[in-house]
Amino acid sequence: VQTLRIALVGFGVVGQSLAKLFLLKEQEFANVYGMKPNVICIIDRNGLAMDDKGLNLRGILEKKRRTGTVGRSKGEKPNAVIIKSTDADVLVETTPTNFKSGEPGLSHIKAAFQAKMSVVTANKGPLAVAFQALMELARHNNVFLRFSGAVGGGTPILDFGKSCSRGDTLIGIEGILNSTTNFILTNMERQNLSFEEALKSAQKHGYAEADPSLDIDGFDSAVKLVIIVNYLTKRAFTVRDVKITGIREVSIADVQRARDKGKAIRLIASANERLSVEPRLIDRDDPMCVSGPYNAVKFFCKNSGEKVIVGKGAGGMETASSIIRDMLEIRDLLAGRGLT
Ligand code: HSE
Repeated sequence: VQTLRIALVGFGVVGQSLAKLFLLKEQEFANVYGMKPNVICIIDRNGLAMDDKGLNLRGILEKKRRTGTVGRSKGEKPNAVIIKSTDADVLVETTPTNFKSGEPGLSHIKAAFQAKMSVVTANKGPLAVAFQALMELARHNNVFLRFSGAVGGGTPILDFGKSCSRGDTLIGIEGILNSTTNFILTNMERQNLSFEEALKSAQKHGYAEADPSLDIDGFDSAVKLVIIVNYLTKRAFTVRDVKITGIREVSIADVQRARDKGKAIRLIASANERLSVEPRLIDRDDPMCVSGPYNAVKFFCKNSGEKVIVGKGAGGMETASSIIRDMLEIRDLLAGRGLT
């Protein structure tokens, strides 16, 4: 069994779900994958827990629950300095998304690369502001960067898109990329909850961004669209290239009129000649017409045609599962390279 030394920065819903999965699946990791994840460092907003031999995750989860932090105070040390001082193979970055500067995630990822650590992140911020620069920096430092949890929660949208377009020509992408707004629109349709109540419920489930206007105004969908396009086509778009309209102007009357005509209003992100995010009227029997906190993405390819992936697009356990998927891939890549 091969040990993978892991540092976690960010210990919110996703980070804690990951720690729980490590505990739950310890035996399975060893038996099925021959891997033992060993968490040697956890940094959260207020504190730090470090043990070179491996942290007691059960104790740390309990401490976080009781005190709101994972351990002792970090003092004056910036997170980047702490990250560089660990001897981890992989940094898992799950601090809150900041779409403007990408920070603090961006500095964390760069620090890890400088210390020759690979990175798994579910944080969209650094990818939104510096996608191609980070890919290049990883290559330059001979390490790996994986981010499947940044788009689609636990649903492997990026991998699927890559598979679909390999050996073919990708000509367009269309999809629902934000769970919070899909959850709100669905609830407006069913008349179960008001906009505000539906938003509150999405927040309670851990779907919404810390600042939910990023979901409602279409920004989160735009960032994910940019990540997908840049990843699959090696372009360097930013959100400024996306024409964005959110769901604020969509009324209950609009939604119900659509429903009565056998249609539905969904917030659709699309990339063809141009990049856009806007509420659109779609057919109920369109495979993209999913309800609740789901995402659905269509990839249009020149020869193989249209393919659709559907799955839950947000949530702690779901996103933590994507992180594990990425970690296993990195473990294989490192093993193939003979470094572990
Ligand atoms: N706020 C995001 C959403 C979380 O609702 O889809 C997952 O990226």
